[in-house]
Amino acid sequence: MALIGTDINRACLELNQGNLVGIPTETVYGLAGNALDAKVVAKIFSVKKRPAFDPLIIHIPSFQYLDTVVSKVPEQAKLLANSFWPGPLTLVLPSKDIVPDLTNSGLSTVAVRVPNHPLALALLDRLDYPLASPSANPFGYISPTTAQHVEQQLGGDIPYILDGGACTIGIESTIIGFEGEHPVIYRPGGVSIEALQELIGKTGFKPHASKVVAPGMLNNHYSPRKNLLLGNIPELIAAYGPEKAGVLSFKDHYQKIDESVQFQLSEKGDLTEAAQNLFGCLRKLDAMSITHIFAELVPNHGLGLAINDRLQRAAS
Ligand code: TXA
Ligand code: MG
Repeated sequence: MALIGTDINRACLELNQGNLVGIPTETVYGLAGNALDAKVVAKIFSVKKRPAFDPLIIHIPSFQYLDTVVSKVPEQAKLLANSFWPGPLTLVLPSKDIVPDLTNSGLSTVAVRVPNHPLALALLDRLDYPLASPSANPFGYISPTTAQHVEQQLGGDIPYILDGGACTIGIESTIIGFEGEHPVIYRPGGVSIEALQELIGKTGFKPHASKVVAPGMLNNHYSPRKNLLLGNIPELIAAYGPEKAGVLSFKDHYQKIDESVQFQLSEKGDLTEAAQNLFGCLRKLDAMSITHIFAELVPNHGLGLAINDRLQRAAS
């Protein structure tokens, strides 16, 4: 069992001893350790059961800190950082040698972001090193959005979880890199593509790149253990039957399925609220005595793009 609390001193102490700590961010909870210490980073991979070819995101306290881990910052990256940091945007930039190969899987680039959470920022300010921090879930499972979610799955493997309450965004950061000078989105997330494009113009979009730029973009992600079927919910009910099935809808209630196994992401149809609720609802459904989850896509704009991306991967 991990201790859950709000003690930054304790979190610092554990991290300084080379241990891992669960940390809150505005997107999802992270499994954090010293990003510059390969031994610590190895623990992250082992606790998450994550393949070593899937690189981690480095969390830093401020834009000024970027020079420590990155060798070159394109103008557009500066613009983006200036607008969206601290916040749910990860920049993939040329890496400095100080970053251990294990952290960025030996790539020439490294993924970096400044999280927008007061406890995470206070913690980062106190440390002499940045934090490598993937989402604090076993590899391939649903990302955690509360300290309790982290405890349920990784509590046996870590000494401390810093409790920053429920995540306000609820879905991982948007990841953007540069191919040549051209910006390319690798993962839709907490900053909408519309907001990015308003600032830097047209971007490429390669969330399911067949040539693996970031192996974390593999499809078997965010999966509940139940069989998640994505489509038109009444048609799914007709095809598979309502028995042993739960529903994850955008805002509607459906007939023939018991209300106790139906979850609406946002009854008022708000995509921000839907993103906040997505992973928590999936977890609740996963814990119920059902065999199938019938789910539907949400409107495909703003945060809806990221929500649909996660739903599609959970279903595959
Ligand atoms: O919101 C978030 O980003 C959360 C919180 C904890 O900050 N973190 C997170 O980490 O989602 P993780 O490890 O679950 O996802 C990191 C993603 C992976 O898909 C990985 O492949 C990609 O970032 N990534 C890391 N380094 C990369 C690089 N050099 N180039 C391209 N993609 C990279
Ligand atoms: Mg993850």
